[in-house]
Amino acid sequence: PIVKEMFGLSDLEEAVRQAFGLKRVIIVPGDSDTSDHIKREMGRAGSRVLRESLSSGDVVAVMGGSTMARMASQFAAPVQLRDNWFVPARGGLGESVDYQANTIAAELAKRTGARYRMLHVPDHLSEEAYQTLMQEPNVREVVDMIRSARIVVHGIGDALTMARRRKLNDGTKNELLKDGALAEAFGYYFDRNGKVVHRMATAGLRLEDIEAAGIVIGIAGGRSKGEAIASVMRFGHDDVLVTDEAGAEEALKHI
Ligand code: BG6
Repeated sequence: PIVKEMFGLSDLEEAVRQAFGLKRVIIVPGDSDTSDHIKREMGRAGSRVLRESLSSGDVVAVMGGSTMARMASQFAAPVQLRDNWFVPARGGLGESVDYQANTIAAELAKRTGARYRMLHVPDHLSEEAYQTLMQEPNVREVVDMIRSARIVVHGIGDALTMARRRKLNDGTKNELLKDGALAEAFGYYFDRNGKVVHRMATAGLRLEDIEAAGIVIGIAGGRSKGEAIASVMRFGHDDVLVTDEAGAEEALKHI
């Protein structure tokens, strides 16, 4: 807290909290666009928030991404979390293995003695294949568990960066631009008003599950993501935002 006062970050936290009607905002000093150290610090702050939010019996659904990976690698709990479950929020979204939600759910569980389930549903399934897969008892069971999560933790990306990372075709990318997509989170694309303009067809968490979750925690920073952060906060279902100074300053320019 003393360090935060020195940087004036608690004022910034309060400004962001009020601007987006959040319950809690945590800001680490710096800009994670230019420093991996800052990204790690943000991950560490996120892992602390998650630990503080956890109650016994909770199911936690997590998304993927490099920020989430840094959160997971620093997650720790004072006691073994034997009756908690970690599950990936969505099926494969075309990320490299280190950044997949499955990997992150497993790591969080392994670090704390909790349990986890994987969801092995590839991208680019035909509607027919998807329906068939969803009838598999194994898949169904995990999907039901995901949809019952009390806690959801996710990253936020710039829409075009994520479209590129997920190798969306040019047609889809142009559509996103036309629709004003600025941000991407949990496989959904949002415009500046926080309205969903596009979604990726994968199994897992739906918007109604996010709305129904008890605690939604967003972790994202860097000046380049400021506008995307503002747009997902406008969507309005996050309770907690963990970000960095540059991301917060930039987000406030877009309220
Ligand atoms: C993931 C989310 O958690 O993080 C994505 O599922 C988001 O929706 C992504 O865009 C951001 O990734 P990164 O690597 O910038 O933290």
